[in-house]
Amino acid sequence: MVNGRTRTCGLIGYPVEHTLSPVIHNFLAEQMGDNLVYVPFSVNRGLAGDAVRGAWALNLLGCNVTVPYKSEVIPYLAQLDPLAEQIGAVNTLVRSCNGFKGYNTDMPGLYRAMVQDQVAIEGERVLILGAGGVARAVAVLLAGKGASEVVILNRTIEKAEAIAEEVNTLARKALVRSLPLGEYDCLPAGERYLAIQATSVGMHPGVEDVIIDETEFYRKIHTGYDLIFNPADTRFMQLTRESGGRSFNGARMLLYQGIIAYELWTGHPVEEALAGKAYVRMLEAMKG
Ligand code: ATR
Repeated sequence: MVNGRTRTCGLIGYPVEHTLSPVIHNFLAEQMGDNLVYVPFSVNRGLAGDAVRGAWALNLLGCNVTVPYKSEVIPYLAQLDPLAEQIGAVNTLVRSCNGFKGYNTDMPGLYRAMVQDQVAIEGERVLILGAGGVARAVAVLLAGKGASEVVILNRTIEKAEAIAEEVNTLARKALVRSLPLGEYDCLPAGERYLAIQATSVGMHPGVEDVIIDETEFYRKIHTGYDLIFNPADTRFMQLTRESGGRSFNGARMLLYQGIIAYELWTGHPVEEALAGKAYVRMLEAMKG
């Protein structure tokens, strides 16, 4: 029941028509008894700053931020969480006394999803496929969570090299190195890796596409974690399983980035049983 005390949270992005965030947050609010509604806001290019100022003026409790504004909103924030600063992208704004504070819940969301999926990072050798903004964020996460070795494989080697250098500086050690995509055979024989697929290759509608389609590559990985959630079973995941590995998609990451944002806005921890119910709701909405 919306009344005079209802608090509003929203999503700033463009386009926003296909977002699943309202499903997650409105379900959580209903189940947790929080008087809160979550609505999408379609923000035209060039208006991200106005949107943040407007959200503040309208007393919004918080916002999510999605493409193409995850970096663009940063100058309009009162504070920036250190992890968001390292990643260089904000997906959650939380109201504070003098403006919004920016957080990145995408990477903590991926971490919480991996914990649920029983995919370890600590002490693991990890391959990151891709060297865009998402891949960079994954490299920061892996450095913070104790991966023993990180190799970024990318078509454009310079981008992978730049991320490796930046993250090694942050981590204060030579943890991350880069390799051209086609040179995975340079990886030591006999080692098996966790591979995180951080490109958009294979995403709907290009569902037949895959970043690497040679079986030899998949023999080198024990787990393939694709950050894509549409389709739910990508070609990358299929090839991983055909070579005997475990495969996961990005749906749980999507859920947990939302749950962590919800916890930041309300201060109310979301228990795993409720997270599981929200996941079912989200998957139903995805099919619909
Ligand atoms: P985001 O910021 O969302 O991560 P992005 O910056 O566009 O997205 O990065 C996309 C990544 O996917 C890049 O690493 C890109 O490789 P290049 O750096 O060589 O451009 C990778 N990518 C996209 N399409 C690809 C394809 N068909 N084959 C190989 N890599 C591809």
